[in-house]
Amino acid sequence: MSKVYICTAIPYVNGNPHIGHAMDYLLADTYARYRRSQGDEVRFQVGTDEHGNKVYSTAQKNGLSVEAYAAQNSQKFQDFIKKLDITYTDAIRTTDADHVRRCQEIWKQLEPHIYAANYDGWYCEGCESFVTQKEYDENGGICPDHQKPYQKLTEKNYYLRMDDFRDQIRAKIESDEMLILPEFRKQEMLRLLEDTPDISISRPRKQLSWGVPVPGDDEQVMYVWVDALSNYITVLGYPDQDISEWWPASAQFVGKDILRFHTITWPAILLGLDLKLPQKVISHGHVLAGGQKMSKSIGNVVDPMAVLERHGLEAFRYYFLRHIDTFADSDFTWEKFDEAYNNELANDLGNLVQRLATLCRKNEVHGISMPEVVDEEYRKLMDRYEFSKAFDYAWGKVQQLNKDIDIAKPWELAKQGKVEEARNVLSQLVGGLLKASELLEPFLPETSAKIQSIFIADEIVPPSTPLFPKA
Ligand code: MSP
Repeated sequence: MSKVYICTAIPYVNGNPHIGHAMDYLLADTYARYRRSQGDEVRFQVGTDEHGNKVYSTAQKNGLSVEAYAAQNSQKFQDFIKKLDITYTDAIRTTDADHVRRCQEIWKQLEPHIYAANYDGWYCEGCESFVTQKEYDENGGICPDHQKPYQKLTEKNYYLRMDDFRDQIRAKIESDEMLILPEFRKQEMLRLLEDTPDISISRPRKQLSWGVPVPGDDEQVMYVWVDALSNYITVLGYPDQDISEWWPASAQFVGKDILRFHTITWPAILLGLDLKLPQKVISHGHVLAGGQKMSKSIGNVVDPMAVLERHGLEAFRYYFLRHIDTFADSDFTWEKFDEAYNNELANDLGNLVQRLATLCRKNEVHGISMPEVVDEEYRKLMDRYEFSKAFDYAWGKVQQLNKDIDIAKPWELAKQGKVEEARNVLSQLVGGLLKASELLEPFLPETSAKIQSIFIADEIVPPSTPLFPKA
């Protein structure tokens, strides 16, 4: 049994959760459930990123104090995480007093690597990111993610000296001591690392009042990413507590847009603190809506609550874990979602459960014959974080059972008076279904539990309403 610490990116609270935000939680939750099923002990962090200009200015636009606005939106994320049945163990808000104080301690420990200088360059408020001249030129002065012109900044900043860390970070990425997935992103990060100048880690208070004060300098506030990244260890109690039981994180889940912060900035901070780097950083693709990036200006932002209400939580988990590829950008449309629900959840699985349970009851099947197979392929995929592929594999088992039942035709065997044979066939099919439900457990925990409770019973009774009634 090992101890496993799983981390998710903490969203900004400058708006409501959208369906894209679900990805970090769902992937991390799938992994957490999988590791627990292997007997490992899991600690699992979630949280909200509440400082920075982006949150501050949206609060003002909404006519609320930034504290009230952040609290209100943080609560929405909390509610969302609960609705998704995410099995986290620790939740943090970056406005928590303990977090703020711990960040200041972290800053003090980093001081040997910090110097002050004037910054004269570009910034993207959408990314809350400093932008190099090279990036500025490549993107024609406009942030490709936020479609907003970069801002010109001329101000005093504190910097973290990258030369103190670059060689170590490169070595740890190259050797996979910090494994970056997928592989092509690892190459991208290695290239970026070479171009990364010293990292600006503060903003003048007159530019950014909503943040963690820099210890010993009233005029400066910590750059929001320093405060945000630190959450992964402050939530464990660092530096007040020894975190070596849980740190380094086994896996950090982040979107592709913020991978650089997790593979360059974060490692620099950790090395400055003499802490180990996360073992794996898994970067997922983005959820698109109708083939396009979701944006308020296009008006195609999909409300996750509406998706949850349409066919329930299990259908939500099903779509986002199977039809949204773990590593590549994938599309959500209501049509695709309804199709997946009706053709796959209702037809492939719901029907199978109903048919099998009905046949078992009719033929008085008791006893299950579990298949001997070991699902090596599934395990390999799960261990490589290829969750959508592992889900496909498990679903393949369900589809195979549908074929098997049609080939064996146990109802005809019964009609011909071959009752024992029919019972044999059925108990094998039930075994296959229970096996498939084990593989499905990290993705569809409720469905898996329902299948188990129906078929591992003294008497098999078909559910009064099918598992996924057709919509
Ligand atoms: N606050 C930072 C993260 C700090 S972590 C120390 C941030 N917040 S965010 O709200 O913009 O994004 C939170 C997470 O949601 C990120 O992992 C991001 O990649 C992910 N996603 C945001 N939009 C997404 C999609 N459309 N699709 C999938 N994931 C998306 O970045």
